[in-house]
Amino acid sequence: MSLKDQLDLQRLPRHIAIIMDGNGRWAKERGQDRLYGHHQVVESVRDIVEGCAEMGIEYLTLYAFSTENWDRPVYEVNGIMELLVTTIRKEVDTLNKNNIRLHVIGDMAMLPGHCHRELQEAIDITAPNTGLNLVMALSYSARWEILQAARSIARDAKAGKLNPDEVTPEIWEKYLCTAGLPDPELIIRTSGEHRISNFLLYQLAYAELYFTNTRWPDFRKENLYEAILNYQTRERRFGKTSEQIQQNEEIVS
Ligand code: IPE
Ligand code: IPE
Ligand code: MG
Repeated sequence: MSLKDQLDLQRLPRHIAIIMDGNGRWAKERGQDRLYGHHQVVESVRDIVEGCAEMGIEYLTLYAFSTENWDRPVYEVNGIMELLVTTIRKEVDTLNKNNIRLHVIGDMAMLPGHCHRELQEAIDITAPNTGLNLVMALSYSARWEILQAARSIARDAKAGKLNPDEVTPEIWEKYLCTAGLPDPELIIRTSGEHRISNFLLYQLAYAELYFTNTRWPDFRKENLYEAILNYQTRERRFGKTSEQIQQNEEIVS
């Protein structure tokens, strides 16, 4: 039986988030420049987006560039930004044809003007689409996100629009870049690093973490199915006991 056929379609995550790591090492292992590795990303992204859309996954978030990545050599940063613009330009028709809606989370103001404009256009063009929500985390970091949310909330409280004593989790979440998106149930990090690197620190509170040694340029649908199958073996307890979870499942079924 293929990996895909082994999936329990009733227990798919609604939201998968991926830290796409290992492009530089993938390139160096082949005696190539790091940028060569970044260029391979397009194929992996295409395949995984297609895989998610086929399964009916509702949200896919891809960590593509962190606020810390701005500190990389200028040559690499510029190369990644150019790649971003050309890829969006090329892929926007495919996104539309497949009913995929593009979102961006991150400090868009940090992006070069033409990148920002190109992205905004793609976001607007795909806004009516009702299939997979593809969320690109660009110039994103969770600490940046949390700080800007705290600033906005403080501003609104000062302006009398908000009572500090009435700030609930639901209100707080409206101030995050991910407002309106469900929390990811599954997070995948490629290329062997076992850390979160400033990604969705608030939203990952109860996510299942999956790490693989596969470098992102080699990551394909089969690797995604493997990650989901692994996710489906886990018991998600949210602080409760195993017995409580099992009783609940018996009642539901
Ligand atoms: C991930 O690959 C892409 C970005 C962070 C932009 P890396 O470029 O971090 O690849 P490694 O980790 O150096 O191999
Ligand atoms: C995390 O990868 C960010 C992205 C994949 C965009 P990094 O390669 O920048 O993370 P660290 O530096 O190894 O933690
Ligand atoms: Mg890396």
